[in-house]
Amino acid sequence: MNNRVLVFDTTLRDGEQSPGVRLSVADKIEIGRQLVDLGVDILESGFPISSPGDFESVETLARELKGVTICALTRARQKDIEVAAEALKPAERRRIHTGLGVSANHLDFKLRMTKEQALETGVNAVKFARQYTDDIEYFMEDSGRADPEYVYRVVEEVIKAGATTINVPDTTGYTYPNEYYHLIKGIIDNVPNSDKAIFSCHCHNDLGMATANTLAGVMAGARQVEVTVNGIGERAGNTALEEVVMALHIRSDKFMCQTGIDTKQLLATSRMVSRLTGMTVQRNKAVVGANAYAHSSGIHQDGVLKERSTYEIIDPHLVGAEKSEIILTARSGRHGLKFRLHEMGFDFPDERFEHLYNEFLKVADTKQEVYEDDLRELVNR
Ligand code: KIV
Ligand code: ZN
Repeated sequence: MNNRVLVFDTTLRDGEQSPGVRLSVADKIEIGRQLVDLGVDILESGFPISSPGDFESVETLARELKGVTICALTRARQKDIEVAAEALKPAERRRIHTGLGVSANHLDFKLRMTKEQALETGVNAVKFARQYTDDIEYFMEDSGRADPEYVYRVVEEVIKAGATTINVPDTTGYTYPNEYYHLIKGIIDNVPNSDKAIFSCHCHNDLGMATANTLAGVMAGARQVEVTVNGIGERAGNTALEEVVMALHIRSDKFMCQTGIDTKQLLATSRMVSRLTGMTVQRNKAVVGANAYAHSSGIHQDGVLKERSTYEIIDPHLVGAEKSEIILTARSGRHGLKFRLHEMGFDFPDERFEHLYNEFLKVADTKQEVYEDDLRELVNR
């Protein structure tokens, strides 16, 4: 099996759907350029029929960004597809992403269609879209809650109609990893023409399992992951790009897959997206949070100072962070304090250090963190 996993970034489409986020065309270009440098394979740039502003963003990104496939979302409607094709015209490489729901919930309450009607609508949309590009991705919204037998039929028919990538969204973040694994594996094993398409994981984070589900999908044979920077997106968000990329990298012993991402740019990309979207990254966020490479307890500091790998599985340089940090708090020990003082150019004989350490603990008990200025004052005293 091919071991290259394609990274489909949807920060500018699903990510921008985060409540409270609004990106200008200029913001989108800035983020888009960074995503191209980062090495994403497909960049979902928007939903052109949704507003004139979104049409303009997709068209501008299609014109400005080179070396990446630009994708636009549509419903399974001719007008949507025509508008998306128009916006994508200037792109070097273009993809139309169309589809509709497959779960009973979506068919009955949202689409108000029978399974047969929805299948026919999807197949017709794919055939229509093929006149504009041969790169067609088909999404089966709410696959996570759908009847697998129906999903298999839809996949078979839309591949016959010309879809080349099949997106299997867990739209509501309902599934757990074992279930999502079997959904993808079931499709690959049961659909006779499954070898003609790439399968894509698109997971939402309502139960905090988006990254785990996406990785389970890769284990099952999916070779595209749909992600956003910092995991932003509708409700609890999408799968975080940086988490999946680093999990595939660090656990390559198990996944044996690679992406084309330059991991050294992950932190800078995360910070740019946070700044432009106004969505702060929680301090303890995996891979890119401010605390991700910071150690504050004495036991951990002692271990990390002896050998980094005792408490760190990711070398911070790998994601573009300068270094691991030793944070001084009331839980820190002698080794951590000695290290920070040494960094500042102070080394003390043992009994003077012991006195300083006791004074340090008194200060540390009064505040969250002991900073360099506090240390300097202690030393002066
Ligand atoms: O979550 C979802 O199902 C989607 C589709 C529109 C691809 O974002
Ligand atoms: Zn989504």
